[in-house]
Amino acid sequence: MAKRKRAAAPAPDDTALLPQKKHYRQRAHANPFSDHSLQYPASPKAVDWTVHYPAFVGTGTAPEFADIGCGFGGLLIALAPLFPDTLMLGMRSPCAPICCSPVAGMEIRVQVSQYVQDRIAALRVSSQLPGFQNVSIVRANAMKFLPNYFAKHSLSALFFLFPDPHFKSRKHKARIISPTLLAEYAYVLRPGGIVYTITDVKDLHEWMATHLKAFPLFEYVDEETLRAEGKGPIIDAVYTSTEEGKKVERNKGDKWLACFRRVEDQ
Ligand SMILES: C[S@@+](CC[C@H](N)C(=O)[O-])C[C@H]1O[C@@H](n2cnc3c(N)ncnc32)[C@H](O)[C@@H]1O
Repeated sequence: MAKRKRAAAPAPDDTALLPQKKHYRQRAHANPFSDHSLQYPASPKAVDWTVHYPAFVGTGTAPEFADIGCGFGGLLIALAPLFPDTLMLGMRSPCAPICCSPVAGMEIRVQVSQYVQDRIAALRVSSQLPGFQNVSIVRANAMKFLPNYFAKHSLSALFFLFPDPHFKSRKHKARIISPTLLAEYAYVLRPGGIVYTITDVKDLHEWMATHLKAFPLFEYVDEETLRAEGKGPIIDAVYTSTEEGKKVERNKGDKWLACFRRVEDQ
């Protein structure tokens, strides 16, 4: 019998380290009103961000961007390389504003947040893709505990990308943009900070835009203006980087963007 040739050992492949979604199965939705027995900090002072961003130890670094309901983390991963290598040494760099902005994802579903945590950990040790020191994730219910994590005026960007639409009227109170929650978003955002919203559901787009326009601490800002301010790479990531955004693209759906600037306190 002919001897079988031993297969050549596969070349080391960094992608082998990456977690696979199939091992992180989870229900499609989590009820934001149920008690998920989540642990949460008493106040932002109780959050040790050095656990999340070990490369920044000693710099007092805290997140500047927060992706609310980050899902599988596509936006975090897309924004991470916009940061210069100097930050990986734990040094703040005097470069463009988006370069100096650690990003935190917030996700309520346990398996999904675990997937993002494992994805970031794998990317951090990957030899092909060094970096990703500036992104992290917390498992939290943003509708209940956002101000427990983020101090007043500490953030310069908040992202609500393809949030759950909660179609039925009796479920609208579960929408992540609602009149009561806008006060919390205005509290954690500093004046000049931007709220980015995008969805493929026109009704939800109109709901979010109507409530944000009606809130005195937010003013509508169009895409062109933001691009002229150098936020084009962020807008591109908002459109295309997330898993939901990619799904909408595959299904040739529409994407409705609406952005708002946090104005000065009156
Ligand atoms: C439709 S997915 C969109 C995920 C991601 N932004 C994207 O574009 O791919 C909405 C995500 O928000 C999360 N979510 C819903 N309510 C939340 C809450 N109160 N706090 C944190 N995450 C929440 C859900 O678990 C889900 O992963």
